[in-house]
Amino acid sequence: MPDREWDAVAAHAEVMRTRTLRELFAAEPDRDRMNIEAAGWYLDYAKHRVDPEALRLLRDLAVARGLRERIDAMFRGDHVNVTEDRPALHIALRVPAESRKFVGPEIHAEVQRVLHQMSEFASSIRDGSRVGHTGRPIRNVVNIGIGGSDLGPAMAYDALRAFSRRDMQFRFVSNVDGADLLEALHGFDATETLFVVASKTFTTLETLTNARAARAWSVAALGGDESSVAKHFVAVSTNAEKVAEFGIDTANMFEFWDWVGGRYSMWSAIGLSLIIAIGPDNFRELLAGAHAMDEHFYTAPFEANLPVIMGLLACWYRDFLDAQSQAVVPYANALVKLPSYLQQLEMESNGKSVRADGTPVDAPTGEIVWGTVGTNGQHAYFQLLHQGTTLVPIDFIGFERPQPGLALGDQQHFLYANLLAQAEALGFGTDDPSLPPYRVMPGNRPSSVLTALQLTPFTLGSLVAAYEHKVMTLGTIWGIDSFDQWGVELGKALAQKIATEITSPAGPAMTHDPSTNALIRRYRERSS
Ligand code: F6P
Repeated sequence: MPDREWDAVAAHAEVMRTRTLRELFAAEPDRDRMNIEAAGWYLDYAKHRVDPEALRLLRDLAVARGLRERIDAMFRGDHVNVTEDRPALHIALRVPAESRKFVGPEIHAEVQRVLHQMSEFASSIRDGSRVGHTGRPIRNVVNIGIGGSDLGPAMAYDALRAFSRRDMQFRFVSNVDGADLLEALHGFDATETLFVVASKTFTTLETLTNARAARAWSVAALGGDESSVAKHFVAVSTNAEKVAEFGIDTANMFEFWDWVGGRYSMWSAIGLSLIIAIGPDNFRELLAGAHAMDEHFYTAPFEANLPVIMGLLACWYRDFLDAQSQAVVPYANALVKLPSYLQQLEMESNGKSVRADGTPVDAPTGEIVWGTVGTNGQHAYFQLLHQGTTLVPIDFIGFERPQPGLALGDQQHFLYANLLAQAEALGFGTDDPSLPPYRVMPGNRPSSVLTALQLTPFTLGSLVAAYEHKVMTLGTIWGIDSFDQWGVELGKALAQKIATEITSPAGPAMTHDPSTNALIRRYRERSS
């Protein structure tokens, strides 16, 4: 759908391709003004290959593509998820109890009801008033879920371990590879172990297979008494019928709603394991951080709007400067799972080649998101970032102070110094004409620095919300539905079919392509 605004950005990008970050900084010595503060975060976006004109044209494009209207529609609860004909109201999950903002009273009351139920439950586990089948306190929590029913709580638990109950163990099982569950159960005493089965649909093959195996393990260890399930299994789902069918009493179910997308659900009852780990007060802080970013996204003008600027820059590189991927490098070990979390958020949301109106896109969409924590990445793939031939914009994420209780020695200064050094080296490279070619660092590699005082529940919440809104900004420019995920359905259906075929002793006739048929036959012959 090229249009006047798109063509204007494209024309300016041709000019900007030839300009380097060194030149841009020489022309605008006050580029340190290119920053935005919001909800505890400071975004420095000076080291991007944009000038004021590029940013203006990108904003014009977003305006022309209806970003303001779409933000209003999402916050109003319109059916912005058109292919599934439902709202995308994750913002409703973070509206504080006392607030009247953004959502109607019915949804607000429902959200608060479940949050209260989660808080009560978490407190009863944490204070030992709710015990297991044999009367022993719960010391271990195993979350069984996949995708959005795993990545959010798993990522946030790692991020906020410093705020968690250190005398309890939390493990997250997602893979249908039985090794995942077995390793998670290793060393656990069933009498002290609670399973949280988290699935929006409660039909997901991996989660239900793992949950059945976990139930068998638990019941067997508890003397074969099926009534123990009530004390050791709870469910988080939108599907009460399937939960009951599985054998979990719906009294032990924590509800959420179809207007919460899987990858936008860590704020809902999907956060049950997390709220047990960090407690209700910290969980509310997480929500408060996200809400603060929601307010910023909703109210700030686009030129001073942190998620909007992140989205515009991503569009610039993806569509106009040929970048295919985006690296996310947190200089905080606690954020080790953030890149995986953002992979689902960005790639499941915007990895689409058809617009919401059914027409094909005519420009690249979706970013390949990847990364690992710094400084580790520096000793692995950073060589390619510095001297390779591929343009990879980077988000550096850092904190000015370590998490409470996690300072030992003087690592913090070295950690942060490395973050700054990498951003500088990538941006400006070497400036010594006497260097041999292999030692030349070309520079001109763009990056953002996102920095906050400390990694806390609040700043984690606002960071994740910022990425959610960045994704929405991009999806709006591309005209796609960022809230559906039809692309994963075919693979799910085929897996069910093949699972029957590879286990059938009758060896049924197969109708796959010859390569798949041969692989199924080979597996049948060799697997037992
Ligand atoms: O892989 C597709 C997907 O539908 C994700 O969007 C979702 O987060 C995940 O599967 C798990 O789904 P459920 O929570 O229904 O088990």
